[in-house]
Amino acid sequence: MEAIRVVGGPPVRGTVRVEGAKNSALKLMAATLMAPGVSRLTNVPNISDVHVMGKVLTRLGASIEVEDEHTLVIDTSGVESWVTPYELVAQMRASTAVLGPLIARFGKARVAMPGGCNIGARKIDMHLRGLSALGVTFSQDHGDIVARVDGELTGAFVPLDFASVGATENLLMASVLAEGETTIENAAREPEICDLATMLSEMGAEIEGAGTPTIKVKGVSALHPVEHEVVGDRIEAGTFLAAGALTGGPVTVTGFDPEHLGLVLRKYESMGMQVERGERSCTISREGPLRALDIQTLPFPGFPTDMQAQTMVLLSVARGSCVVTENIFESRFMLAAELSRMGADIIIEGHHAIVRGVDGLSGAPVTAPDLRGGAALVLAGLVADGYTTVSDIHHIDRGYEDFVPKLQGLGAEVSRVDL
Ligand code: UD1
Repeated sequence: MEAIRVVGGPPVRGTVRVEGAKNSALKLMAATLMAPGVSRLTNVPNISDVHVMGKVLTRLGASIEVEDEHTLVIDTSGVESWVTPYELVAQMRASTAVLGPLIARFGKARVAMPGGCNIGARKIDMHLRGLSALGVTFSQDHGDIVARVDGELTGAFVPLDFASVGATENLLMASVLAEGETTIENAAREPEICDLATMLSEMGAEIEGAGTPTIKVKGVSALHPVEHEVVGDRIEAGTFLAAGALTGGPVTVTGFDPEHLGLVLRKYESMGMQVERGERSCTISREGPLRALDIQTLPFPGFPTDMQAQTMVLLSVARGSCVVTENIFESRFMLAAELSRMGADIIIEGHHAIVRGVDGLSGAPVTAPDLRGGAALVLAGLVADGYTTVSDIHHIDRGYEDFVPKLQGLGAEVSRVDL
């Protein structure tokens, strides 16, 4: 079993380029199912979640050529199956992103109920209620969801109880090929939603309002394959910026739009960091101490839950006490127990974490609880005394391409080791 070993101390500084966004690439790959033919996706991250989505598409009958490390040529003309088995959905919850596209293409789909990242009960009830409004009927069979449409998918008014990213995406994909108009109210506004809407529009869909709470879709009868570049990964960028902020930097991250990290960067400024925003890059540095600050996660443009763990590491060594409130996922504080083993002072009360800054962390063997929590523990190791060994790093490989070489490029003393 492999682990990541970090030696605390050396400053992290320099420039690093991020890949395309995991959370966008996975959905764009699913969307190619809706346009029979050959689509080309560029700036695709080479990470294990993308490999799983590749397996999902191949199992459905698509063929995928890896043109170069970051370019996938996906031929969906031979897709004949509408069944996504448990062994794949259990590996990655985002496999459920094929539900909307399969229903749109075949009028039916059979998708196993999701497993995936261990961050609480992650239901898909809103996906199902929304798709029902478009005329889909659902039944369950041996733990699979079986979806059927009698006749055509029909546009409808679909209000979401919560601005769910996955539900917005599945509805968007199903509605672009529905008969008539669909309005998704209280839609998620994440940059990855905009990227998906842009690609669907390039494929011939008629979509207005992506990036706002109201998305209006006018159904079209067919979509055509396209070439599309995946948007830069704001969370990978935020992770390296947090690394720079921890040790002082300066760290420059390129390949993403800093506006996609708007609130995170403003919070980091209030915590004592200097931030320089470029058009497709951002530089962070810090001279004085880190200052504690309350944060609460919310759907975009709020503070992203996917930056909560990395920020908790910063707060654990900041001056003062603060409260971190997690509003998106239950059980997303598993990092706290591991950080406490490194000397952090964190108390969990329901969906609040009370973080009292300590003078320093000490290296320890720790276990990655999930994707972002795993990356955060590596960051903690950068400023801890001595060695930190992070195990269960398959979580990190799900979403970070070349995490270790990129940190080495910034001067960190970090390596993959066999346990
Ligand atoms: C996506 C991202 C994930 C990010 C999250 C929030 C991908 C692959 N993953 O996850 O990295 O942390 O957005 O920005 O893109 N919920 C329900 N019923 C539903 C749908 C969601 O109760 O039908 C709940 C979930 O359990 C969760 C919350 O709503 O507590 C947010 O989920 P959602 O926005 O859908 O996140 P994902 O699409 O799963």
